[in-house]
Amino acid sequence: MTTLPAPQGPGASAADPSSALLEVTDLRVQFATAAGPITPVDGLSFTVAPGETLAVLGESGSGKSVTAQAVMGLLPRPAGRVTGGRIVYDGVDLLTRPAAQVRRLRGPEMAMVFQDPLCSLNPVFRVGAQIGEMFRRHRGASRRQAKAAAVDLMKRVGIPDAAKRVDDYPHQFSGGMRQRVVIAMAIALDPRLLIADEPTTALDVTVQAQIMNLLAGLQQEYGMAMVLITHDLGVVADVADRMLLVYAGRAAETGRIREVYERPAHPYAAGLMASLPGVAGDQERLTPIPGAPPNLAALPSGCPFHPRCPYAVDRCRAERPPLRAVSGAGRAAACHRAEEVLDGG
Ligand SMILES: Nc1ncnc2c1ncn2[C@@H]1O[C@H](COP(=O)(O)OP(=O)(O)OP(=O)(O)O)[C@@H](O)[C@H]1O
Ligand SMILES: [Mg+2]
Repeated sequence: MTTLPAPQGPGASAADPSSALLEVTDLRVQFATAAGPITPVDGLSFTVAPGETLAVLGESGSGKSVTAQAVMGLLPRPAGRVTGGRIVYDGVDLLTRPAAQVRRLRGPEMAMVFQDPLCSLNPVFRVGAQIGEMFRRHRGASRRQAKAAAVDLMKRVGIPDAAKRVDDYPHQFSGGMRQRVVIAMAIALDPRLLIADEPTTALDVTVQAQIMNLLAGLQQEYGMAMVLITHDLGVVADVADRMLLVYAGRAAETGRIREVYERPAHPYAAGLMASLPGVAGDQERLTPIPGAPPNLAALPSGCPFHPRCPYAVDRCRAERPPLRAVSGAGRAAACHRAEEVLDGG
């Protein structure tokens, strides 16, 4: 089992499991596919403290959405199931609880903004009714109270003319406004944990920034903990405290964003940081990480990153590196050669 490093010093509580709102330990998720079972989440561990924002990064297919679905108890059935590990929310191991109990947490405790906003919205119902439904179902509000609450929420997420637009249908909203509607639904019941899965991917750059600012503002206002899933570190660097970098369903590196950014310990993190415009300076050509993400049906032996890794040695091909503490409080990396990577060797 992987263990996170013991926290030390100020601000270390973010990685202290005892104070965590969400603690995921050694999570494994399996999917049945035509080509046989795959394990897109394979021993993933992380924590989220109350009020903290964790950025979860990784290439397409690394298991970010599947992890979020597992935490929310929303894995597609019967193909997907959790085959190992623990998901502890506020001291309760969700995997040992009946589905009905986990369902009751969704909305008032944990809420999610899904990767595709259209999945969360029904095209044939007015947005006000869809937002208001949260209050009717969970708070027993009347139709009228629910509509008033929906207008109030729409204002909070920055939708102009909310009192009029409450009667519009989803297709009458722009992509950015639709994302605001979805966010309004997610925060309606004042959840303590919000998981936002690629909340800005489908939007253009200026709207991306507006949505990120909105999420950061709401996070402050409500004191929510937030998990921001993204493959674009540039988008979340200003709003997240810590990051979890996922590769092939495992943690490659975790730590404070600034520290990982300045001195990565995992070669995958180093490659990712080098490809960021802010780090690469004014160069037009960025340095992508060579090679392709691994095939989950035929994972490489040892460290799954070794075929793409400039640091790979025989040990990396033979032995899977555990997530282990490296320089600095709350930092950990799953690399046999993390110390050399830290030294920029
Ligand atoms: N319902 C499913 N059935 C079978 N395989 C699935 C299912 N959902 C996801 N997977 C597989 O699990 C792996 C991880 O998928 P996931 O959606 O978590 O990736 P991701 O990190 O969110 O990628 P992206 O950045 O593209 O959203 C992928 O290989 C995907 O094909
Ligand atoms: Mg995804």
